[in-house]
Amino acid sequence: MLRLTTVLVSAALMSATVLPVFAQTSVGLKNLPGARVLPIGAELNGTFLENLPAGSKYASTAIHEFNITGCENELKMYSFTGWKGDPFTGTPIIDNSGADAVANLARANHMVMRGHVLIYNQAIPRWISPDGVNTKYTDAQLQAMVKKFIFTRMHRYADVVRYWDVTNECFDSKGDLKHDFWYTHLGGDNYMANIFSWAHEADPQAQLYYNDYSTEQPGPKFNGMLAYLVALKNKGVPINGIGFQCHENTKWPQGVLSTANTNAVDAAGFKWQVTELDCGTDAVNPNWKLQAEIYGQTAKICLADSNCQGLFMWGYTDKHSWLRPPNGLPFDAAYAPKPCYWALYKAFENPPPRINPVATAN
Ligand code: XIL
Repeated sequence: MLRLTTVLVSAALMSATVLPVFAQTSVGLKNLPGARVLPIGAELNGTFLENLPAGSKYASTAIHEFNITGCENELKMYSFTGWKGDPFTGTPIIDNSGADAVANLARANHMVMRGHVLIYNQAIPRWISPDGVNTKYTDAQLQAMVKKFIFTRMHRYADVVRYWDVTNECFDSKGDLKHDFWYTHLGGDNYMANIFSWAHEADPQAQLYYNDYSTEQPGPKFNGMLAYLVALKNKGVPINGIGFQCHENTKWPQGVLSTANTNAVDAAGFKWQVTELDCGTDAVNPNWKLQAEIYGQTAKICLADSNCQGLFMWGYTDKHSWLRPPNGLPFDAAYAPKPCYWALYKAFENPPPRINPVATAN
């Protein structure tokens, strides 16, 4: 109905093939009924964005479609470029330019942000460790510096970032905690508790997330992750939600988000989000239909569960995607909506009833 009331189209144009194109340009996903209960959006590459002229299609399409955004790489620790003074009393040197470009776009357009990510073993600044293993700093020095970095970052964006990925990709495929650089230096078995506590201290209003991939289906990784996070929560560690990255591909449709897992997360008392949705497909024989089904099904699972706090994609246009080939996002490289865009549109236009599965089960 929304489409019909907001768009003036002649009767001759009202065929199913023509109408959606008009609807997209006039409505935008963020104005559909589903978006009133579930934030919908995508990350932007801040470095790309800050070098574009004002009013670029990259910016204007995102503003038109989404009510939540974030940074692809610019909130990672790559931007923590150095340290001034003594490790215990000095200050972090941070390049905020790319993240500011995204945050200012969000602020100016009534969008909120997901902050991705505070601690990630794939984003260790070279000056802290040239090889991701060795460091010239003691554990106490590193903890002091990282804590101050977290405080500085979270304070700067506290007005606009509602959800933070505090840690990312910390479990192996068996569900065991990786003994990576941050585990080793930020507290060993206490490191997750330390980081979440620092993040909560820095911004008590923020929703704090643990984020990972290959956790959409039942299995040892999901089980290990959830058991660990439940134990943390039971110890009083401030952790609010679990992020399902959802990097999908039409070649492995059996791996997509399952309600067995979202229900288990609900039952454990966590909120959750889809945090990095994309869906690659074959370069030669692309399966746009299955791609659209995967988008639509994921959106419906999010919309139907009142514990889901957002549907977030890892980019939105094939013009700017980390996928190779870049064909897994809802807009093509010329910013035309693809079938998977329309699958999202349909789900958000006519959302399923939103229920709390735990409350319903009791
Ligand atoms: C990716 C970015 O998209 C790339 O530009 C970068 O080179 C590597 O990281 N899971 C995550 C994201 O949590 O941070 C990753 O982002 C994609 C996989």
